[in-house]
Amino acid sequence: MPTFVNINPFVELSNSVPTIALQGFLIAMAALTIGGVLLDIKHKKNVKYFFDNAKKAKEKAKTNVPTGKKAEIIVKTVAHDVLISGEFCGWKRQVAHLLGMYGTIIFWGASAVLVFKYATPTSVTPVIITNLWHLGMAMTCLGAYWFWFFLRVDVAAEGHKWYRVVFTDLFVLSLVITSTFGLLWSFFQAAGSAWSTLFLVLFVLSNIVLFGGVYWSKFAHMFYKPGAAIQKHLAEADGSRDGLPVPADAPEQFGLGIKREAPRHY
Ligand code: HEM
Repeated sequence: MPTFVNINPFVELSNSVPTIALQGFLIAMAALTIGGVLLDIKHKKNVKYFFDNAKKAKEKAKTNVPTGKKAEIIVKTVAHDVLISGEFCGWKRQVAHLLGMYGTIIFWGASAVLVFKYATPTSVTPVIITNLWHLGMAMTCLGAYWFWFFLRVDVAAEGHKWYRVVFTDLFVLSLVITSTFGLLWSFFQAAGSAWSTLFLVLFVLSNIVLFGGVYWSKFAHMFYKPGAAIQKHLAEADGSRDGLPVPADAPEQFGLGIKREAPRHY
């Protein structure tokens, strides 16, 4: 394993930047996230729509789902749709999302511990936290670059080039670029190279884009999707099904033409 993954770069950084400024930066990023999500909720009225829709679904319910059954559906949805990204079709998408999701969670968690507990010139950091910080970024890079180069629908199914960037890529790109610059900053700082300053600046800027862009990007899906998945499964159980028909009982017939090429048109 390369040695830089055992070195906490915030200790070295605290020689030139006060610890309180590092902590202030993390707090500012959390505040940007909360602010962005609240603005999003206010502007798009999506939470209002969600509750209105849930009320409508209740009126259309064909059966009354008992509380115990509802609790079971919620637990199953959290275990399947949230914790193991189970609603993705295809194992590649699921694994890429799991890598990105858990990588990011590990990276953010370890960042908070490093910056709030081990970011002074005399800090002695438990090596496991430093390892987790690097591992989280590496997992995020693996999952998000895999998604970016090979799995994006407009690349995998619609034939666009991997380097075509559209505004909706803001989230995945700022996410993966942040982790890339974090790793490069740590690597060059451990090597004692002057490049580390450049990558530190880029790391800071990409974090500002990621967290400052919450209102415009897909960032907030991590808060909305769990609620939407629970509502979807509850609506299936009570028969309201969001006004959609039940699936046909006969198998779907597409004819032999379906076998001519890989089924990647979704
Ligand atoms: C730290 C948490 C998470 C991260 C970093 C993350 C990351 C991502 C990324 C990078 C994408 C691709 C976005 C794109 O299309 O450009 C994505 C899509 C998606 N994520 Fe997550 N995710 C997180 C949490 C969750 C959770 C909790 C759920 C569900 C309960 C979820 C469900 C989905 C789904 C269904 C998509 C498919 C595309 C879409 O509908 O936009 N994600 N996620």
